[in-house]
Amino acid sequence: METQTPFERIGGEEKVKALVERFYDLMDLEPRYSALRAVHGSELGQARQKLFWFLCGWLGGPQHYTNRFGHPMLRARHLPFRIGIRERDQWLACMDQAMQETGVEETMRERLRESFFQTADWMRNVGGGSG
Ligand code: HEM
Repeated sequence: METQTPFERIGGEEKVKALVERFYDLMDLEPRYSALRAVHGSELGQARQKLFWFLCGWLGGPQHYTNRFGHPMLRARHLPFRIGIRERDQWLACMDQAMQETGVEETMRERLRESFFQTADWMRNVGGGSG
């Protein structure tokens, strides 16, 4: 059990797919994520596909994203978008709700919440400590 990756523990590709689909559905539907939604274009199809590929590898599963695009360079790829505290927090809340609604087990959800925070916080590109 200890050698299982988070990808395996979460339930593999099927589960990661469900998580990503729910994440973008919520972003599209819920007014509380409207600032996050506004950063995105009208079409979320490409974002859905890419986040799914990325998360599989990030969780220790198949490297679909890097096989196609090489190093993710996530911070650089997010520079065209305005990401402050508000956008970061909406991303994290949206992902946490998606994890809850797709039944990610509590210990794993807690652990991923921490990791997502580190990644999302590093993506901020406007505002200082308070922006
Ligand atoms: C902090 C708040 C964040 C905002 C506002 C944000 C916003 C965006 C936007 C607008 C795109 C472009 C979508 C498109 O191509 O249509 C994008 C792409 C992407 N985001 Fe984020 N993002 C955030 C955090 C994150 C985090 C924490 C991760 C990973 C854990 C992530 C992973 C990705 C990936 C893999 C892509 C595709 C990059 C590419 O190859 O073009 N993002 N994001």
